[in-house]
Amino acid sequence: MADKDDIREGKDFGIGIPQENRPFFVKGNGALDWGMQNRLARIFNLVSGRTVMLAFDHGYFQGPTTGLERIDLGIVPLIPYADVLMCTRGALRSVIPPSATKAVVLRCSGGQSILTELSREAIAVDIEDAIRLNAAAITTQIYIGAEYEHQSIRNLIQLIDTGNRYGIPTMAVTGVGAEMKRDARYFGLATRIAAELGAHYVKSYFVEEGFERVCAGCPVPIVIAGGKKLPELDALTMAYQALDQGAAGVDMGRNIFQSDDPVAMIQAVAAVVHKKEKPGKALQLYQQLKAGNVPDRSRLARSS
Ligand code: R5P
Repeated sequence: MADKDDIREGKDFGIGIPQENRPFFVKGNGALDWGMQNRLARIFNLVSGRTVMLAFDHGYFQGPTTGLERIDLGIVPLIPYADVLMCTRGALRSVIPPSATKAVVLRCSGGQSILTELSREAIAVDIEDAIRLNAAAITTQIYIGAEYEHQSIRNLIQLIDTGNRYGIPTMAVTGVGAEMKRDARYFGLATRIAAELGAHYVKSYFVEEGFERVCAGCPVPIVIAGGKKLPELDALTMAYQALDQGAAGVDMGRNIFQSDDPVAMIQAVAAVVHKKEKPGKALQLYQQLKAGNVPDRSRLARSS
């Protein structure tokens, strides 16, 4: 119990030093409540303002994807080097150690498979379960121009509204229907629609022509998916160009976990994202790590 006789009057009120009101560092997210901003600050690195999201949610519609046959063997060793784990609740609960304190962006859509129409998704996780799993953000896909465009947009609206109720941000994923042309016009349209509907950040693909306009026209951060496996230098170059043109990070899967050395590759990607390393230098780092010439890999991850 407090000793009432010893209550001392405060004396250092810092008179003359104005209390700082720092602007929040994540693009377009300056007017959110504390919980929302706190979660976004777990996703985007406070120093670089960027993020390395490790995507391994592919199984939710395409089953045991190459590199993800055993998430315990293929993904768990990569966790120390990622800022964010993007995955399904099934993978999280069954394989990811709860002692991993990385931010989780939870895949909350599903209901289709590679054997049917991809755009026909539903919301597949209740917000209570996302809270139970301590998700830093929730995510669903929109398929602009595809057969079930409207349904996928409704899913996004529903997710944003429920997330807003509990202070959990939503990342919109721009899925691409089989017939869609992957160009700046398409991604400019899809990312802008997602942001206008209230998504807190958006995942897009990189395009060689006009990506700068896609980023500039989207009022919240864009992170890029890696897409199909490329040679390591090409994947690092794609990440570098995307960041240089305004992206705020990567949400990369296959180009990391299908690499010959995923542990080395994720560190090379992180060097591009957080240290603005040029692709050639990042490839050198990849090769050195792969050859075992950089002894303490975890030290590199910690410094980023
Ligand atoms: C699709 O399955 C998911 O949205 C992936 O998370 C996304 O495509 C990123 O993975 P990748 O870099 O392999 O394209």
